[in-house]
Order: sequence, then C-alpha cells, then structure tokens
Amino acid sequence: MKMHRHRFEAKFHKRLESAYRRRILPPTATLKKFGLKKGMNVADIGAGSGYFLIPAARVAGKDAKVYAVDASKEMLAVLKGKRPPSNVELVHTKDGYSFRIDSNTVDYVVASAILHENEPVKFLKEIRRIMKAGATLLIIEWRKESLRYGPPTEERLSPEEVKSFLAKSKLKATKAAVLNSRYYAVVAKKV
Ligand SMILES: C[S@@+](CC[C@H](N)C(=O)[O-])C[C@H]1O[C@@H](n2cnc3c(N)ncnc32)[C@H](O)[C@@H]1O
Repeated sequence: MKMHRHRFEAKFHKRLESAYRRRILPPTATLKKFGLKKGMNVADIGAGSGYFLIPAARVAGKDAKVYAVDASKEMLAVLKGKRPPSNVELVHTKDGYSFRIDSNTVDYVVASAILHENEPVKFLKEIRRIMKAGATLLIIEWRKESLRYGPPTEERLSPEEVKSFLAKSKLKATKAAVLNSRYYAVVAKKV
C-alpha cells in the first residue's frame, strides 16, 4: 500500500464548511453525542479549516488543552485566520504520522474524513500513542455507497475495514453508526 493516498487540498476548504454539511453533520451535536465533555483534552487530527476543532474547543472549555493537527501548512493558516480560542495549539506534522504531542495526554480524538487519506494502521498507532488509557477516538468516514460527493469509491473504507484497522492498532471499537447520507462514525477506546 502507498504511504498515503491523495490528501484533501487546502484550496478547497470552503467545501468543508457548506450549509448542507452543517445541517447533516452538526459538529457540536456530533462531538457531544460521541462523548466529548467539558474539561477534556482534545486532538483533532486533520483539523482542516476547523469544522470540528472550533466547536470542540468551545465544548472542552478554556481549561482544556486542544490540539489542531494538520499535515498542510496552508490549512493551518486558514484555521489560524479564524482566530481559534487561546487554548488551541496548532501542530504541523510534516509526514502525517508523528504528532508533536506528548504520549498519554489526550482524552478525546476526532479524526474526520482523514483515515482513508492515510496508511491506516501506522496513522492509528500514532493516535493511540497520544491517547490516555480509556480515551475516546471518534472516526468519521465517507460511506462507501455514497457516490455523488467526496473521494472515489475505491479510496473509501467500509466500517468493517475501519474496525479491522483499529484492532491491528490495539484500539477497541465500541460503536459504529450511520450518521447521514454521506458519513458514518466508528468510536474506539484505548484499553
Ligand atoms: C478532508 S479534510 C477534513 C478536515 C476536517 N477533519 C473536517 O472534517 O472538516 C482532511 C484534512 O486532513 C489533513 N490530513 C490528511 N492526512 C493527514 C495526516 N496524516 N496528518 C495530519 N493531517 C492530515 C489534510 O491536510 C486536510 O486538512
């Protein structure tokens, strides 16, 4: 398998912020539904333009540490332009597989529309490293059968594939749910 597949380009960031996306995938409600609470340290891996990151920082509150990780400096510049709250730290990862975040420090990780862009097990193992024991990982991915938008079908992952990559990365899948016509979620814990 290639080291990573095609990654989303920063110049298309407005596509991530459409009114339609906000309607079918409301960020604050989605994060809370899958366990985000005040006071949790959060990492958004592939934070992009901040679609989940900024709501996550609001829910976690100013006493929590919130990391916005992205492999694209352009995307981090877009996010910075939105003036995220002061407890947000922007983290650039050059290779996409090593995040400058201490091990065992994060309570909640969100990885939305990104797993399919990477070598899954290598990527998930690095996520596991930064998670505390018992921490939650929320993965959001494109449904394989939804064809009108998003990445080519052959690049998409099924929930079964995601669960198998999680198991190989020593993360325990605890929940899977279809969210809407485009996306599904898989939740995992570091046990
Ligand atoms: C399709 S966008 C999704 C952005 C955001 N998560 C959302 O749902 O709106 C994917 C983002 O992940 C970033 N990305 C892809 N692979 C990455 C990696 N291994 N590490 C960090 N960022 C990555 C891309 O640069 C891009 O900003």
